Amino acid sequence: MGYISEFAQSKVTTATLRKMKEKGEKIACLTSYDFTMASIVDAAGVDFILVGDSAANVMMGYDTTVPITLDDMITYAKGVVRAAKRAIVIVDMPFGYYQGQPQVAVESAVKIMKLTGAAGVKMEGGREISEEIRRVIAAGIPVCGHLGLTPQSVNVFGGYGVRAKGDAEAEKLMANALELERLGCFAIVLEKIPAALAARVAQSVSVPVIGIGAGSQVDGQVLVVQDMLGMNRGFSPKFMRRYGDMGNEMQQALEHYVSDVKEVDFPNAQEQY
Ligand code: KIV
Repeated sequence: MGYISEFAQSKVTTATLRKMKEKGEKIACLTSYDFTMASIVDAAGVDFILVGDSAANVMMGYDTTVPITLDDMITYAKGVVRAAKRAIVIVDMPFGYYQGQPQVAVESAVKIMKLTGAAGVKMEGGREISEEIRRVIAAGIPVCGHLGLTPQSVNVFGGYGVRAKGDAEAEKLMANALELERLGCFAIVLEKIPAALAARVAQSVSVPVIGIGAGSQVDGQVLVVQDMLGMNRGFSPKFMRRYGDMGNEMQQALEHYVSDVKEVDFPNAQEQY
C-alpha cells in the first residue's frame, strides 16, 4: 500500500507542485523514457515524470548527455506522455538546442511541446541562460531550472563531482536560484550539492526545489528510474538508494527463458495453437 497523497485524484500541474510545496507534501519525481516504464511509474503515484537527457546514458549507452538530439528526446517523450495519466511530464532540452541562442531555445521548446504533448521543459544553467529561459517562458512554456551539477557542462567541470562546496560557488548558486525564480521557472532541480546549501535554497525560493544528491530538506526528490530499480548495475553513487534488484531479476528470468527454449520446454502443449 503506497502513500496516499492529498493530490492523488487530480492530474498534476505546475500549480499542483507549488501547492505541494506550500502544504509541505514532498514531490516524488522519477525519470522515464518509454511507455511501459512510465505506465508503471505513473501508477505508483509518482507526481512528476522527467524525460531526462540521462536517456543518453541509460537508453543509448553514451558516456555523457552531450550527444543526445532533440529528435531523440521527442521520441522518448511521446511514449511517456501517452502513459502518464496523473503525473506531470517534463522534457529535458538537450545540449546544443538552447545555450547561447534564445530564438533556437524557443523553437526547440515549441517543437517539444507540439510533438510530445508534455507540460513543460527543463533547462540546465542560471544567469548565463537567462535570456533563453525568459524567451521560452514568454512563449507560454513552463520551464524547470537545473543548477549544481549540470551534466551538459561536464566538459567544463571536468567530471561529475559534488558542486558548490566552496563559498564562492555556493553564493553563485544561490544567486542563480533567485534568478530562476525571478524569471518564472515553475521548479528548480538541484543536483549533487551540499545538503545545507540545498536546504537554504529551498527556504529562499517560493518555487518547488527538487533534489538529486542534495539532501532531504528540499521539496522533492528525483532519481533515474533504472538506477533506483537496480537495472543499471554498475552505478551506485552515495546519494542513490536501490529500491529493487531488477537487473539481476531480469537476467535470471531471461536465462530461464533461454534454457527453456534450448531444452524445448517452451512452448508447451498449452502454449501453442
Ligand atoms: O537527465 C536527467 O535525468 C536529470 C535528472 C537526473 C535530474 O536531469
